[in-house]
Amino acid sequence: MNRIFSGIQPTGNLHLGNYLGAIRNWVALQRDYDCIFCIVDLHALTQPQDPVQLRNSTREVTAAYIAAGIDPERCLIFNQSTVAVHSELAWLLSCYTPLGWLNRMTQFKEKAGKQRDMASLGLYSYPVLMAADILAYKATHVPVGEDQKQHLELARDIAGAFNRRYGVEFFPLPEPQIFGAATRVMSLRDGSKKMSKSDSSDYSRINMTDDADTIALKIQKAKTDPEPLPGDEAGLANRPEAANLLGIYAALTDATLEAAVARFAGQNFSTFKKELADVAVAVLGRIGGEMRRRSARGRSPSHICARSRTSSACCAPEAGSGRGSRVGSGRDFRPAFCRIPRKLALPSRIAAVS
Ligand code: AMP
Ligand code: TRP
Repeated sequence: MNRIFSGIQPTGNLHLGNYLGAIRNWVALQRDYDCIFCIVDLHALTQPQDPVQLRNSTREVTAAYIAAGIDPERCLIFNQSTVAVHSELAWLLSCYTPLGWLNRMTQFKEKAGKQRDMASLGLYSYPVLMAADILAYKATHVPVGEDQKQHLELARDIAGAFNRRYGVEFFPLPEPQIFGAATRVMSLRDGSKKMSKSDSSDYSRINMTDDADTIALKIQKAKTDPEPLPGDEAGLANRPEAANLLGIYAALTDATLEAAVARFAGQNFSTFKKELADVAVAVLGRIGGEMRRRSARGRSPSHICARSRTSSACCAPEAGSGRGSRVGSGRDFRPAFCRIPRKLALPSRIAAVS
């Protein structure tokens, strides 16, 4: 049985990159897999967070999942911090993770910057917690954006290290699923930088909650170059802004980049941008409206994420009990090598929120 695990950090504004690189793909996958979609609030704590803001963002991400079309009747949705197993397994896995593997992680290098000695241990070991998220449920597939590829490779390495250590095929090696025409959406202000929640300029990204006028304005103001659009994909070389905007158009219209390039060949940016704004508003406007309505209902985060309690209930330890766990730690410690029933029933509380 194939099982998906993926997650988003509840830190600030969800944007078009999160949608095209992750959430939209999840919606399509939920038909064919057992799906677990987490709001990874423990990961968010690797950077300073305002507690009230963190709670609000947790609610917003939950609303985004559901507004984008993730069906809480089919999928498990919960926030990470309420299932202790994630942290427990992260500790265990950290004991099989050589420092050298973590030293290679480019995201840590970028986030820690020059002040590496001041960066927290949590920021450094973040990919181990991510591996624990995935392996705790024996997930086989992990749909993410391009930027998470390295972390996924590390999760595979850690799973392999554990299996080899005990001579078992215990953890499946999780497969990354990185697809769509926009696996890496770039900033609207700088085509060489990833669109990100933390960019100080709001004009660098389209937020999932932006209204139609804001979306249109941001696209209108997006950086371009002076040339008309190229006639073929090769013409996008060294034109990062054109490549990014056409990639976004292709993803939003479910077309290939090749088709999008052909459609606007030789046209100027202003004509293209009007069409791009129309499709962006058509797709995101509806989702953003739904998110705003859900957030306005303002249930408490514990209501929204009550689902997490179900997930802990669902996690029947299938290993590590009885004569001690596979790792040889005490009877009481049961690594969360979990089995989740095929039918993921949803408590009515959550259904009401959703
Ligand atoms: P984060 O915002 O870092 O929590 O990322 C959540 C998910 O969105 C992950 O699967 C990321 O790979 C994806 N993602 C984040 N930013 C982008 C982007 N600019 N382009 C494509 N995918 C992205
Ligand atoms: N690290 C991921 C990001 O920043 C979020 C994440 C945490 C995740 N745990 C995960 C994604 C498990 C996939 C699977 O985008």
